[in-house]
Amino acid sequence: MQLIDGKAVADQIKREIAEEVNQIVANGGRPPHLAAILVGHDGGSETYVAHKVKACEQCGFKSTLIRYESDVTESELLAKINELNNDADVDGFIVQLPLPKHIDEQKVIEAVDYRKDVDGFHPINVGRMSIGLPCFVSATPAGIIELLKRYKIQTSGKSCVVIGRSNIVGKPVASLMMQKGIDATVTVCHSRTQNLKEICLNADIIIAALGQPEFLTADMVKPGAVIIDVGTSRVASTETKSGFKLKGDVKFDEVAPKCSFITPVPGGVGPMTICSLMRNTLLASKGV
Ligand code: GUN
Repeated sequence: MQLIDGKAVADQIKREIAEEVNQIVANGGRPPHLAAILVGHDGGSETYVAHKVKACEQCGFKSTLIRYESDVTESELLAKINELNNDADVDGFIVQLPLPKHIDEQKVIEAVDYRKDVDGFHPINVGRMSIGLPCFVSATPAGIIELLKRYKIQTSGKSCVVIGRSNIVGKPVASLMMQKGIDATVTVCHSRTQNLKEICLNADIIIAALGQPEFLTADMVKPGAVIIDVGTSRVASTETKSGFKLKGDVKFDEVAPKCSFITPVPGGVGPMTICSLMRNTLLASKGV
């Protein structure tokens, strides 16, 4: 079994991006600029956005954090998005999700100019990705593909099972895995799937992205399979100072000995997602 070290790969990619930014600045250009909108004080979102701001520093980017209390109105938020769409100094921006219930998330996603949509959530980017056109690919799916490539994991002709059909991970990663060049045969499973265990037992690659801690157990995994764990559930813990622990969707201790490659949680897919966001922002700044 080989552990897929997402943290090490992410650090390497951030160094590569930082080098490119150095070159841009040395040639008289300005560094890429990412803005992030954070609404409210959700613990997970606070942490993710803090990591994104830190990654910007590591890559030599400019970053701007725009905060709103959770009672911000939808129209105030849409007005800020419009302002960022028209701000030539901002190359790309994100609105951290989830948003409070009184705000229509889809309306917010569609308000972002797709050329600045470095999250890759806008329907234009999602559509372009699904037919293989240049676009901003959303961060988690792009991070997973990058890990498979960097570890030279065979995907062509392999059977890949994706568990979960979210717009952010399940659907886009399934779409990428079946694309030319990656060439996996993809099955997408979800809460209504029958015979899930049998389907998983047939898989060469399992991407677990359903958000249920320790869902995938050893009896669902074929010996030698590749396991990608996208879960990041926060569960209460007395072992950590913060009072919680991140748990993946895979029962790591029993699955790891059975497989050929596996991503840990934390330190697997998570660090890669932020890298993808940095790469998208660099591309946005180059007008690609
Ligand atoms: N919430 C969970 N993941 C993400 C992400 O990748 N981008 C944004 N904007 N919000 C998220």
